[in-house]
Amino acid sequence: MPCNQESGCGSQVCRASIWHLTDPRLSYPTPRELLPEDEEALLTSAKEFLEHYYSSIKRLDTESHRARWESVRRDVHLTGTYDLTETELTFGAKLAWRNSARCIGRIQWAKLQVFDARHVTTAQGMFEALCNHIKYGTNKGNIRSAATIFCQRKPGQGDYRIWNAQLISYAGYRNMEDGTVIGDPATVEFTEVCQKLGWVGAGTRFDLLPLVIQASNRLYPEVFTLPPELVMEVPLHHPTYDWFAELGLRWYALPAVSSMAFDCGGLQFTAVPFNGWYMTTEIATRDLGDTHRYNQLEIVAKRMGLDTRTHSSLWKDRAVIEINAAVLYSYQKMNVTIVDHHTASESFMKHMETEFRLRGGCPAEWVWIVPPTSGSLTPVFHQEMVCYSLKPSFEYQEVAWKNFQWDEEDTNTGSALGLLAVGRSAGGRRVKYRFKEVARAVKFTSNLFGKALQRRIKAAILYATETGKSEKYAHMLAELFNHAFNAQVMCMADYDVINLEHEALVMIVTSTFGNGDPPENGEAFAREVRGMANNHHSHHPIATQPKYQLGSSKTGTPLLNRVLNRDQHSLRSFSFDQLQQPSVDSLGPLSNVRFAVFALGSSAYPNFCGFGLYIDDLLGSLGGERLASVICGDELSGQEQTFKSWAQQVFHTACETFCLEDDVNIDDVSATLRRDLITSDTVRFAIVNSQEKPILDIVAGLSQTHAKNVTECPVVFNVTLAKDIDGRKTVHVGLKITSQWINGTRNSATSAVTYEPGDHIGIFAVNDEALVTGLIDRLGINSTLPPDGPLQLQTLAEQKVDGGKTWQNQERLPACSFRTLLSHYLDITTPASQTLLALLAAHASSEEDKRRLQLLATDASEYEDWKHWGFPHLLETLLEFPSVAIDAALLVSQLPLLQPRFYSISSSPLIDPLQIDITAAVIAFKTQGGEGPMHYGVCSSYLSQVNEGDKIQCFFRSAPNFHLPTEIERPVVMVGPGTGVAPFRGFWQHKQALQSKGKEMGPMLLFTGYRSPDCDLFVEEKSTMVASGILDYAFLALSRHPPVRKTYVQDKLLEAAPLVYRMLTQQMGHFYVCGDCAMAEDVANTLRMVFQKAGGLNAEESDDFLMQLRNERRYQEDIFGITYRAPDTVNANRRQQ
Ligand SMILES: Cc1cc2nc3c(=O)[nH]c(=O)nc-3n(C[C@H](O)[C@H](O)[C@H](O)COP(=O)(O)OP(=O)(O)OC[C@H]3O[C@@H](n4cnc5c(N)ncnc54)[C@H](O)[C@@H]3O)c2cc1C
Ligand SMILES: Cc1cc2nc3c(=O)[nH]c(=O)nc-3n(C[C@H](O)[C@H](O)[C@H](O)COP(=O)(O)O)c2cc1C
Repeated sequence: MPCNQESGCGSQVCRASIWHLTDPRLSYPTPRELLPEDEEALLTSAKEFLEHYYSSIKRLDTESHRARWESVRRDVHLTGTYDLTETELTFGAKLAWRNSARCIGRIQWAKLQVFDARHVTTAQGMFEALCNHIKYGTNKGNIRSAATIFCQRKPGQGDYRIWNAQLISYAGYRNMEDGTVIGDPATVEFTEVCQKLGWVGAGTRFDLLPLVIQASNRLYPEVFTLPPELVMEVPLHHPTYDWFAELGLRWYALPAVSSMAFDCGGLQFTAVPFNGWYMTTEIATRDLGDTHRYNQLEIVAKRMGLDTRTHSSLWKDRAVIEINAAVLYSYQKMNVTIVDHHTASESFMKHMETEFRLRGGCPAEWVWIVPPTSGSLTPVFHQEMVCYSLKPSFEYQEVAWKNFQWDEEDTNTGSALGLLAVGRSAGGRRVKYRFKEVARAVKFTSNLFGKALQRRIKAAILYATETGKSEKYAHMLAELFNHAFNAQVMCMADYDVINLEHEALVMIVTSTFGNGDPPENGEAFAREVRGMANNHHSHHPIATQPKYQLGSSKTGTPLLNRVLNRDQHSLRSFSFDQLQQPSVDSLGPLSNVRFAVFALGSSAYPNFCGFGLYIDDLLGSLGGERLASVICGDELSGQEQTFKSWAQQVFHTACETFCLEDDVNIDDVSATLRRDLITSDTVRFAIVNSQEKPILDIVAGLSQTHAKNVTECPVVFNVTLAKDIDGRKTVHVGLKITSQWINGTRNSATSAVTYEPGDHIGIFAVNDEALVTGLIDRLGINSTLPPDGPLQLQTLAEQKVDGGKTWQNQERLPACSFRTLLSHYLDITTPASQTLLALLAAHASSEEDKRRLQLLATDASEYEDWKHWGFPHLLETLLEFPSVAIDAALLVSQLPLLQPRFYSISSSPLIDPLQIDITAAVIAFKTQGGEGPMHYGVCSSYLSQVNEGDKIQCFFRSAPNFHLPTEIERPVVMVGPGTGVAPFRGFWQHKQALQSKGKEMGPMLLFTGYRSPDCDLFVEEKSTMVASGILDYAFLALSRHPPVRKTYVQDKLLEAAPLVYRMLTQQMGHFYVCGDCAMAEDVANTLRMVFQKAGGLNAEESDDFLMQLRNERRYQEDIFGITYRAPDTVNANRRQQ
């Protein structure tokens, strides 16, 4: 089989080693030949490429693949071409590098930064993009691989071309009389072209050639001098021969090929400069050593005192080695990336081995791969190679000026006229720039190119949230990043993980829920990235494995807290050290992705910020490059300020990474985080005419605002289950399922199964009426707006099309009355954030109010003290600062949404498929250390007050990690102190119902605990269950019932250790814990002790066993949070800090 048809190989003869047969460029396809002849050919290539792409992301033959193919077909039929998506383009460019048979440095192929410049249509714009490329690639000497891709060839349009062979190269001036050349003989012809275009070089050996750029071959090329500060050069010295410096040799740092075409999916991109970094021999042996280039061997040999008259003195070999030594030494001394040929060869061997493993082969052209010096000393010399061509590819193309139609008068232009540049305006008119004008233009450009182009570098900001804070921070971050990048905010649940490896910049803002778990809308993302990591690590066992495991209780996972002391992640240790990068051999799929993680959490929880830490670790193990260490924002200690410092630092580092620090005034930009983006001039309430615009009812409004399938359930009963001596009560509320329910799959309330025991119901509470009325009065709404008439919040926003400003509805909130907004949609009880306090400070007229509010807004410690002492709701805050006069619309625009509260369903659908029971502890407490006013939990107090027939807005949430075993004969151990018993009532009801149908479930143990017997919940029902054998045992722990010894569920668990252990080991039982997070942590620790006591396991074995139970989903948790223990935990934690 011919190995390389382009070189004219046949089945008998291989001519791959013959090069410069004629002018090599002539044998490359002309632009027209590269263009597929017809639609069919284009579609065949497109189809092949898409198949390749979709199989790489494991979505071959899926709905998305089919839809994409259809849209490509449609575009090709309609327009004769199609566009690649940004991800496809990046994938294609990386693959083209991977397929380049002549490149020895391909091990880095996945680490190519692709700049998508397809939107650029002018030579000036292309020049700016190229400056950006050079700056990014050079990176102050720490070279990075990059490709900039300009617009593809399109039917009826001219090609975009860069006439230079490399972005940076030296001129070669031929002496017409004796034929000698000053400078680089390789560029003589191109130097003449530049001169013809008016460029005048200084005539030295190392004059930088200008960039000659053609935005389309219908237009005249334009000439741009490279801003000298952009081009890094290395003067050459020798480590021991001092005289070497006298030779005056130098070379540039960035090898960037700019004349090749990129062929991908049947499309040709004719201007696609790309760079890697130098291998020493390319400069030393070839550029400086070749006789038809700088030809330095004889000069060096003579200075070395070698006999150059005879080959047998080996002067050439010895001289070339010393030039290599000089190049390597000089580059390394200036910290410019370079690789010697031995190292490069070894890496290539590794790459080849990997490629054979992954792809079954690696196209390689031996003649090009083997280094020109000391070939047989490198392993590649001894390696058999097969050269074949694969698509996508980088292809040679005819020199741009070959068939160019020059204007007659150009023969006369040039140095004599003192012109620097010649071009044509868009209308085709010839434009000539005088030297000064161009010099100015260049300076202007080098300052400005960041603004125009860098905003094209996408910054993906992904958040996962339960209560909305991470989302808010993600938007603040985007506001900041949009000053220099194209920032896009997405919820993790809406993000397609296949794009991850082609992102340039990814910022994660996420909270932690459960007991170290992701928020619900981060679960799928976590799973998919985990899958990616599993896949990678199974292929690269030596690569860094993630240290943490996702999961609830730290017991049973490698302990987050054990591995990572919280202080390591707090603001105090906020540092942006360079973290160790993975080696070339272990490049992961995210090796080209820069990322940073901000983890929200509360230090009251044992797994503080567990999910954020986990994601950070996972992305790092996949080869991602950290822009900054992960930072934990503690809800109990200055979370917002920590976030703002982190955001500024990450922005700074990102600008540095993408070489934008000169173009963006980072301090000015960071100030935007402190400024109010919305003012009373840019937000207002518009009165809505309900005749013209229908007003959504609460169910529709909540569904829209929270993007949830909200329904309405009437209350069928509400009884008080227990009340303790402190007056704390627990209520039992029954709801009827009447209408559409469960993700819209059910239209009438008739089907038998609506949920499973263990699932949750989300309740939308209604804020306290007195509080709402108080706020309406305090804000003076009655005098300005009708509090009960329909209003729509609007903001003044710039229009995308003409840039003018118009009032636009704020989609976050529906049109409704002000009273409804405060009652149903807005959180008016959580203490104001520091940002909101800063806003109030700006609207305070008394100096004292202003000073105090400003202090609270800026001093984290003062703020936390204020917050935890009075736990002030909004009305209390406004009353505390009476001089604050703030516009109601402005205030509303800054208030967070009232979040739904979750309750574990306390019933089984097998008892009544249309009823859902809730067991809720009512939160009521006195602030100010027990001396202040009474405060009530929003939702629990709302639930305590609902009456039969009232309608409650709610939605259903499945909790697949807290369902009964599918093998119903397995034992079930349930630990649920306090209201933690809630889901277990559903479990025992389920067993009872199954039993009545003749189905036998396994044994059930219940551990509950209360302060005293008065607080015990479902007392009678439990006795009945024990009596009828549904519950095999019901253990009750009492903590404040003298003279009974103080006991907790943990103590009862230890007492029953042999039974519990037997159930879990011999009968494959399932263990469930429900309630407060800290209790769950203690229970997990106790369970380890159970294993040690009853099973004789040592500490490590106990850990392993718990981990095994978790992995087998036989250890399950349902975590409520830390509601009751909040004040104790807060104070304890704050004391520690
Ligand atoms: C998955 C899940 C399942 C749940 N299941 C149940 C269930 O079955 N039954 C149940 O009762 N709850 C359950 N909860 C908790 C429930 O969702 C609510 O958090 C709880 O009812 C409190 O909500 P609230 O609106 O009444 O209080 P909020 O208005 O949210 O107020 C609670 C706030 O008050 C603070 N606080 C509480 N006590 C004090 C105090 N003494 N001093 C100072 N501050 C204090 C807390 O720190 C907290 O910030 C569950 C939670 C989750 C996440
Ligand atoms: C039920 C519940 C469980 C929580 N679990 C944890 C946890 O395990 N670790 C942690 O650091 N924070 C935990 N938190 C605190 C949240 O992460 C914190 O409130 C965060 O600021 C919420 O951000 P969000 O609004 O973006 O979801 C929990 C909060 C609740 C209500």
